[in-house]
Amino acid sequence: MSRVRRSVSLRLANSLRVESVAEEYVEARDASELCSALDRARRDAVPVTLLGGGTNVVPLRRIEGRVVRVASRGISFRRGREGARVVAAAGESWHGLVRACLGRGLVGPENLALIPGTVGAAPIQNIGAYGRELSRWVSGVSVVDTVSLERKVLNAAECGFRYRDSAFKSEERGRYVVTAVTLDLRDEPAEAGYPGLAAELDRLGRAPSSVSVAEAVIRLRRRKLPDPRRVGNAGSFFKNPTLTAEAFDRLRGMVDIPGFSDGERVRIPAARLIDDRGWKGYRAGDAGVWSRHALVLVNHGGAGGREILDLAYRIRDDVAQRFDVELELEPAVLGRD
Ligand code: EPU
Repeated sequence: MSRVRRSVSLRLANSLRVESVAEEYVEARDASELCSALDRARRDAVPVTLLGGGTNVVPLRRIEGRVVRVASRGISFRRGREGARVVAAAGESWHGLVRACLGRGLVGPENLALIPGTVGAAPIQNIGAYGRELSRWVSGVSVVDTVSLERKVLNAAECGFRYRDSAFKSEERGRYVVTAVTLDLRDEPAEAGYPGLAAELDRLGRAPSSVSVAEAVIRLRRRKLPDPRRVGNAGSFFKNPTLTAEAFDRLRGMVDIPGFSDGERVRIPAARLIDDRGWKGYRAGDAGVWSRHALVLVNHGGAGGREILDLAYRIRDDVAQRFDVELELEPAVLGRD
């Protein structure tokens, strides 16, 4: 375990690039270092905040206690008769894992290419894009239980995966720290049915394969979403909400919006509502809404977490007032002002 440092800036450890100071900070390079870090924090009686790639968080000015950053590395592949088993350490970059799979001719995670963040963060919000979700392949998530400090492997059912949600984010919030993810990839055709994706493949003149889908997804994302290395952002800032069929009908009287069935309910793109209210490209100081995607809030340079959040709340209230639809934040808010 690296030594515990005091008053550490997290500006470069979060993709929104907002200034935030961790009272204490330590990195864990593998599961046993993580157990020691948690054990030591317990003995020191300091609260722990876990951080992966920092791509889905809004850090406020100060984080009390100890930030533990999971920095474990390593990916292993084992080919079976019907696919491959991939085990990746939590600190690996998600996109790096997608590339490693492509390099081995495996099919599956290409629809999730270019999603920022680490492998360890992926199961927490069950990352998804262009017609696929991580939960499709997860056979196990290795964790450290913060209560018993034991290492365990949770199976897919125990992870409670749902749209942009899991037991790690909801029922068991804070209980487990992810140390590795095991994916079982099957030999199957690439998924190219998502509306914009099929059109992009057509434009490229390519038949669907894991490589062509990855290329199309990368082009689509680059066109619409800001590169976090250039413009601070945390991806989608709101979840796409679901409505009852009646509420959806009522909404359609106000705005032209698609709906996708999700069990009994209808899931709608929050971006459409935010866009309709004219927020796209809006700027308040250095906090803004990305000009090419209404669901993405950006930091043009000097915004703090509070300014980003204030803007998010203004958008949320405006959408609630106009459309009677409640938007829920997607990133987690860390620390306080
Ligand atoms: N739309 C607008 N205005 C905009 C952007 C989009 O009206 O500024 C409309 C589009 O016309 C389209 C609909 O919204 O009909 C959906 O847009 P898009 O395909 O971009 O998808 P999304 O629902 O906004 C979700 C994910 C993204 C993921 C894309 C592609 C959530 C919260 N977001 O966005 O994930 O990349 O689908 O699959 O589910 C992320 O979570 O950080 C993220 C970027």
